[in-house]
Amino acid sequence: MAIAINPSILSADFGRLAEEVQRISTADAVHADVMDNAFVPNLTFGPPVVERIVQASPIPVDAHLMINDADRHAPAYADLGCASVTFHLEASAAPIRTARELRRRGARASVAIRPATPVDGLLDILDEFDQILVMTVEPGFGGQAFLPSMMAKVRRLRTAIDAAGLSTALQVDGGISTETAGQAADAGATVLVAGSAVYGAEDPAAAIAELRTRAEQ
Ligand code: DX5
Ligand code: ZN
Repeated sequence: MAIAINPSILSADFGRLAEEVQRISTADAVHADVMDNAFVPNLTFGPPVVERIVQASPIPVDAHLMINDADRHAPAYADLGCASVTFHLEASAAPIRTARELRRRGARASVAIRPATPVDGLLDILDEFDQILVMTVEPGFGGQAFLPSMMAKVRRLRTAIDAAGLSTALQVDGGISTETAGQAADAGATVLVAGSAVYGAEDPAAAIAELRTRAEQ
C-alpha cells in the first residue's frame, strides 16, 4: 500500500522556511505544527507564517493545529490555502460543525487525538473526516520517543474505516523513524509525519525515500 510521508517543519530552520520546504519537495505534504502555548506548552507560528509556507511550498500543506478553541480558529487555515487542516478533538466543542466548515472552505477535514484520548468518540462520526491523526507522542515537541502502545488505536481505526468502506487517511505523528515506520504502517497508518528523522538527516530527500521504503515493505 502507498504510504504518504509528511515531514514536519517543526524540526526545520525557522530562519529559512522558504528554502526548507524546497528541501522536502519529494514528500507528499509539508506538515505545519501550529502551537499556542496553551493547548501545548510550546509556541510556534500562526496564520501569517502558514500563509507564507503555503506560497513557498511546491507540495500541499497539512496544518496540525495544537491550539485551544479549534472551532473558532481552524477555518482560517482552510481559507489561507492549507490542503488539510487537523484540529484536536480535545480542543473542539463541535467537531462535526468544524469539519463541515473546513470542507465547505475547500480543505480536507482532519481530527487528532492525544495519546490519552480513546478512539471511541470518533467511531460513529468517521465519515465527517478525510483524515484521522493518532498522536504517537504527547504533542508539543519534536524528537520524543514513539509510543508503541498507540498502535492498538491505529488498528481499531483501520478496522472501522475498512468496515465502513471509507477511504479516510490515517495519520500518525511523533517519533516516526526508520525503526518505527514499519510498525505504524503494519497497524494501518497511511500517512507518516516525521520531523527530526527528516530534517535531522544530512539528506532530507534520502531520509524521505528510506522512510517510504521501510513503511511499504
Ligand atoms: C509534535 C508535533 C510533531 C513533531 C514530530 O507535537 O506535532 O509533528 O514535529 O516530530 P518528531 O518526528 O521529531 O517526533
Ligand atoms: Zn504535528
